[in-house]
This record gives sequence, structure tokens and C-alpha cells, in this order.
Amino acid sequence: MYDLKKKKLSSKFSILLEKLNKASEKKQMSLLLDHPWDEPVEGAWLKKRENIAIYGTPYYDLASEEERRLLSVYETGAWWYTFIVFENLVSEYYMKIVNHGTLKRFPDVVTYMHHFCKEEIVHAMVFRKAMTHFKITPFPIPLNLREIYSHNAAMSEFPLKAIYLTILIEWLAENNAMEDCNDKGISVLSRAVAVEHHKEEARHIEWGKNMIREFIDVVPDFLQEAQQITAPMIRSMLDMAVSSVVVYSRVGFENKAFRNYKDLIPTVLNSDNRKKINSRIVAPMMRYFVELGICDPQNTENMKVWEEHGFGQDAIDALEYFKKKTATDTDIDNVMNKNYN
Ligand SMILES: [Fe+2]
Ligand SMILES: [Fe+2]
Repeated sequence: MYDLKKKKLSSKFSILLEKLNKASEKKQMSLLLDHPWDEPVEGAWLKKRENIAIYGTPYYDLASEEERRLLSVYETGAWWYTFIVFENLVSEYYMKIVNHGTLKRFPDVVTYMHHFCKEEIVHAMVFRKAMTHFKITPFPIPLNLREIYSHNAAMSEFPLKAIYLTILIEWLAENNAMEDCNDKGISVLSRAVAVEHHKEEARHIEWGKNMIREFIDVVPDFLQEAQQITAPMIRSMLDMAVSSVVVYSRVGFENKAFRNYKDLIPTVLNSDNRKKINSRIVAPMMRYFVELGICDPQNTENMKVWEEHGFGQDAIDALEYFKKKTATDTDIDNVMNKNYN
């Protein structure tokens, strides 16, 4: 095992940390000032039509226009609520790591974790305020979120797995939010909630990605475990976005077909439209998994895990990218370089 006591941060990571810390000091999201909180609620779409779960399925024609709009409201509200729960958990857990001193040999990392936690606390307040604004009440807490940090409580160990699970959620959720709000027709407030969040979240994601790159050798079993747990986790998060029975029941669809969940859920999960959205969400993440060997084409067992969870083609696409990539190509997946304004 690599000795953590002898570990020195690479200059690439040190430069990134300096940049991240400066950016967080310069501008931070304000609960009061950064969103158009006076926007009227009536008739607002909170995500774009093409991304509501039933789009591109026969259920779309069975729904009224108002029911489709309400679906956009509650699907977005369910994500916002998931963010609130998750961001509360992550700030609690990261502050615990900071206070325990596990990372005190790396003061710039600790400084960034302070920014990170403060930013997540404000994000959760913004999402809560947005839910109140649109009169959306809380949803049940997703079970997979509850367990993320509970198995990671051993503070004596290096918390790489918790950091990894955190970026998986942040990255997927961000790519999903950017897909959903990328449209001029949606509520200006809903779009601002997503875009303002993304500015800080992009930094969280780059930090997390580089923490893994930097410390992957410190935790000997990390790679093997990541090869096993990543595909099922990504699958369950993607499917969670469109298969919430609570969301469908809140819309209160008039047509009886919407109460037959046994048919409805597989139809929305497997629609061509959803598969295309999922592939766009997952593509940059797959390239990262290939880079780190979390998706390893030489390892048949590992490839089976990806295929079984429906990511066979996404893995092939990521591998194709690396075949064509030259040494001078820049990192196309650096989320900090993307402008969504
Ligand atoms: Fe956040
Ligand atoms: Fe975050």
C-alpha cells in the first residue's frame, strides 16, 4: 500500500486546488441575490418537454397538456429534494472528515473542503426555497442515498470511496439537470436554479475527479471495488429519475393507464428518448471510468458488469474516443470549461 504519510500532491493537482480555492473566494452563490425569486408560478414548466419521462412513449398522448406540465414540475421537484437530502449528508460527512484531521497534511485540500461544505449548505437552502416557491412538498428519501456515508464512517481510513460516490452523484445529477433545463421555454427561475448551481458544482466535480486521480494508489482495493459498484449505482440513479411512483401519483393523471405502474415504469425506462438522454448524461463519465480502469476492456468480468447494467454501448463509445484521442487533445470533459449561461 502507498504510504499516505509520504504522499506529496502533484503540481497539477496543487495548481487546480489554488484555482478552485480562488474561484470559491471570489464569487459564491447568494440565497437572496442570484435567482429571480419574483417569477410567477402559474403555468411554469420546470424542465423541458422532451425530457419528461413519458415523452416519446404512447403515454404522452394519453396525458393532458396540464398533466404534462405538472410532470415537469414534480420530476424537477423530486430531483431538487434529492439534492437537498444529499447535500445535507455530504456537508455533514465532509466536515466530519475535516474535523477528524485525516487530510490535515494537505491544507489546500482542507481549505477547499471548507468552501465545498459551505457551498452545499447554501445550495440546499436554495433548492428548499425553490420548492417552497413552486409549492412542492418533500418526497420520500431515496434509500440508496441514506446508505452512502453510513458504510464509510470509519474515520481512520482514507475516505476515497465516499469522495468517489459523491462525485458520481454530483456528476450524474449535474449532467441530468443541464439536459433538463437546456431550453429557453422553461421557467427562468428553474433554469437559474440549475445554472447557478452548476457554476459551483462544476468545481466540486473537478475537485472530486482529481482527488481520485491523485489518491487512487493510497487505497489498495479501491479500483476493484469501483469496478463492481459503479455500473449498478449509475443505473439506479438514472432510473430513479423517471420511475418515481410518488411523482406520477402527485400529478394525478386522469387516464387509468397511469395507475398501471407495471406497464408504465418499464415503458418510460426503456423508451428510445430516455436511452438517448441517458447516453448523453453518461458519456463523459464513461470516459473517466475508462481512463482510470474502472471500466476495463481487458477485464471480461468487469465488462460483463457494465453490459448487464445496460452500458455496453456507452463503454464501446468511450473506448472509441480514446482510440482517436491524440496526446495534444485537451480534456473535453473538464466541466469547469463549459459555459451554460
Ligand atoms: Fe450542490
Ligand atoms: Fe456539490
